[in-house]
Amino acid sequence: MRVVSGPLDNLEQWDAFVKDRYDPGKTEDQFRKYDDATPPVVREFYRQNHANQTREFVLQKKRQYLGKQRGEMGIWDAMDYLNTLVDDSDPDTDLSQIEHNLQTAEAIRKDGHPRWFVLTGLIHDLGKLLCLYGEPQWAVVGDTFPVGCAFSDKIVFPEFFAANPDSNRPEYRTRLGIYQENCGLSNVDLSWGHDEYLYHVMKDYLPQPALYMIRYHSFYPGHREGAYDYLFDEKDREMFGWVRKFNPYDLYSKGHTKPNPDELRPYYEELIAEYLPAKLRW
Ligand SMILES: [Fe+2]
Ligand SMILES: [Fe+2]
Repeated sequence: MRVVSGPLDNLEQWDAFVKDRYDPGKTEDQFRKYDDATPPVVREFYRQNHANQTREFVLQKKRQYLGKQRGEMGIWDAMDYLNTLVDDSDPDTDLSQIEHNLQTAEAIRKDGHPRWFVLTGLIHDLGKLLCLYGEPQWAVVGDTFPVGCAFSDKIVFPEFFAANPDSNRPEYRTRLGIYQENCGLSNVDLSWGHDEYLYHVMKDYLPQPALYMIRYHSFYPGHREGAYDYLFDEKDREMFGWVRKFNPYDLYSKGHTKPNPDELRPYYEELIAEYLPAKLRW
């Protein structure tokens, strides 16, 4: 199967763009010039994302998916299923989804972090299953941002929001929009994608820092750019320390050394069983 519903050759093209944007070797000046160097398909991807992620769309996706009516699956089955997402990547140098997940988890494990943190590294992108349910790329990956209030100019490619119908709705155009000052992110709708979906699959099982990492790892305007602080409450500010701790593993743990899924599986099956039921509702 190929990822057809979107301009990207594969989902990792978005990850690679974010990684490049936050390359620690870049100067502040180069950092702001991502525009010229961005591949046209990535620009097109953001154009679609920013034009289509309206509050109405987000609420509709929540109604569609948060009831978790797509059946039951264990974690390893979900990883195998996600692995059927074959794309245009080069099979000699690129890694499968399972290998990506294992690389992130192994990097966290090597640094001696708690077991739930390692598990979070393994599963954090399983929400990308949305692609296999037929969702377009712009509704699965991409930097996330609040809907129902003004779009921050700290979001990448802010100019593309001009085409979003919410930009013309007076009730959504103000700094706070429909929200209250410091109402807490749990009361805010973010653009729809793999973070929010997986959070709802996992929310009964994992410790709070893990749930924050899962739910907000693509919220770059919030955890890297300092935008929307006025929507955060004290709990969010505290927990975003964990989201920031997780981010380097998400961005920089992907090399070309292939982890061996068969060798690692016993360790991870035990880790999965420590926190999660044998089958979860999706
Ligand atoms: Fe992700
Ligand atoms: Fe990731």
